[in-house]
Amino acid sequence: MGTLFETKFAGLNLSNPIIIASSGLTDTVDKNKELEKAGAGALVLKSLFEEQISTNAAALLIDGDYPESNDYILHYFKTNEVSNYLKLIQDTKEACRIPVIASVNCYRDDSWIEFAHQIEMAGADALELNIFALNTGLEEEIDLLGKTYIRITKKIKEAVHIPVIVKMGKYFSHPVSLVDQLHSAGAAGVVLFNRFYQPDIDINHLQMTSGHVFSSHTEISDTLRWTSIVSGKLPQVSIAAATGIHDWESIVKCILSGASAVQICSTVYQNGNEIIAQMKRSLEEWMVSMNFHSLDEFRGKLNQASIGDASLYERIQFVRYFANRD
Ligand SMILES: Cc1cc2nc3c(=O)[nH]c(=O)nc-3n(C[C@H](O)[C@H](O)[C@H](O)COP(=O)(O)O)c2cc1C
Repeated sequence: MGTLFETKFAGLNLSNPIIIASSGLTDTVDKNKELEKAGAGALVLKSLFEEQISTNAAALLIDGDYPESNDYILHYFKTNEVSNYLKLIQDTKEACRIPVIASVNCYRDDSWIEFAHQIEMAGADALELNIFALNTGLEEEIDLLGKTYIRITKKIKEAVHIPVIVKMGKYFSHPVSLVDQLHSAGAAGVVLFNRFYQPDIDINHLQMTSGHVFSSHTEISDTLRWTSIVSGKLPQVSIAAATGIHDWESIVKCILSGASAVQICSTVYQNGNEIIAQMKRSLEEWMVSMNFHSLDEFRGKLNQASIGDASLYERIQFVRYFANRD
């Protein structure tokens, strides 16, 4: 396929735009080797969660009188979780030639600075921040989460030289200005969007339960809308589209919207690693049929800058669609 699929995301050179998203798909070196063999363009390793290195051990702590042993247990857990993760980075880097992106799921900045540096030393090509916090306090400042994103990105970027990528949630009042400020804070790229844990309710047992673990292909609409708007307004920011990308047509749509790469997860869980080669085959056939010789030739062709004011366009579509419905 030569240079047909080559792309650059967040300063990384990818032989094709398919990145395997952070998940249980990428938590061992053997799985990562198989994903590379299956044709992935890059991998995001399973996240290390802030709780794993800060409060994971709290559940095991002994109440009351043993502060020293508690300190020891906390230190032991932190060291072990971190060293296991660093080993996963090192081993995957040794085994694979494609870019390897480490991932941390965090909600504060302080505990990550040293760790981010260690991730860099272990050889990760980039670091993806999956910042997740539910701000539920009544007195909390509106847009606190966006400010948290910017603060963490800035601090982590001060600690590392490798590209820092921010995997964003989709619930922000001003996503475009947030991406702009993340870029100014040092983010080399953004992932639009993360898909968080989906809660549900079991009405027979009257308890909270887990909703759908995997996305559906219908979830791609927000991904396309915001990829198109952000890439139109901020062409200098590199975007990996994510959530709801289940087939090769979705990859085409994301690139037309302005993405440099895509992240996939659910479809690989559901269809196996073979889906990667199938997607690439169909993408190639489509590109040949459309006479495109590179992704750059059609990247952003349908983004907000190319189609005009998306907000106006979407309002007109909205009115047309809903105003005359019985
Ligand atoms: C089983 C499972 C585990 C996941 N673990 C992580 C994780 O550790 N870190 C992370 O950033 N995202 C995690 N995700 C989210 C995925 O990386 C991805 O963003 C999300 O599934 C949306 O992509 P998709 O529509 O292709 O599934 C996980 C998703 C699944 C289904």
